[in-house]
Amino acid sequence: MKPTILLYDSGMGGLTVYDEIQKVLPNAYYLYCFDNAFFPYSEKSEAVLITRAVKIVQKIAEKRPLDMVVVACNTASTVVLPALREHFSFPIVGTVPAIKPAAEVSQTKTIGLLATKGTVTRPYVAELIEKYAQDCVVEKIGTTDLVEIVEEKQRTGKVDMNRLLNVVEEWKNHPTLDTIILGCTHFPLVKAELKQILPNVRYFVDPGIGIAKRVVSLLETQGVAQSQYGRNTPNEAFCTSQGDDLVIKQKIMQQSGFNQLSVLDI
Ligand code: DGL
Repeated sequence: MKPTILLYDSGMGGLTVYDEIQKVLPNAYYLYCFDNAFFPYSEKSEAVLITRAVKIVQKIAEKRPLDMVVVACNTASTVVLPALREHFSFPIVGTVPAIKPAAEVSQTKTIGLLATKGTVTRPYVAELIEKYAQDCVVEKIGTTDLVEIVEEKQRTGKVDMNRLLNVVEEWKNHPTLDTIILGCTHFPLVKAELKQILPNVRYFVDPGIGIAKRVVSLLETQGVAQSQYGRNTPNEAFCTSQGDDLVIKQKIMQQSGFNQLSVLDI
């Protein structure tokens, strides 16, 4: 029996977290939900994000017994984890900006947090900076545009480089910034383009590998109950709206090994 792990995000960004987990746990049974009815999460209120999180997990847990949930979204994780942990007994793993690794790796002690508008304002993130990056200057860019640029890249294969440049303009000729935290799970999907625009930045840090390690160690040490599903169950994807581009989304999910896509009624 393999453990059943649900990942969810507003869109396709959570696949960057899935890729890392899948590398170390190739035989788990994965479910992935993208909440396209509420995409993007960037500027949604905290109350909305909490309600969505509980609804999504509840709905899927009714269909499939879950062993673990990975909130593959920084914008949601910085708010919804306490509510999810209160409602559900299986482990809930969050994705939060990799402030500590970035502070450790930066030589100039000047780091940039690139995240959604919501994430950069969260008290949770301010606490992480206070705790782990006291010796650093932390500059922040909060953007919804970049989330949309990434989804467009997923759909069309193209990145609007001018729009991307507009997002990070203030860091283009920065004299000391050597490290950028990719504080949104969508952003690793445009790492190459960001490197091109910001050639002086040495490190792009994202939490994917750390989350994968956390998932493995939680499964090992907490002796998580195994699900009822057998080895041959194919991975499944869920979304929350029919949307115009569902056929393209379905293809993207198939490329990641999620052959079935159903629309959740929430
Ligand atoms: N992928 C999500 C994150 O990590 C957010 C994208 C959105 O704003 O919907 O923050």
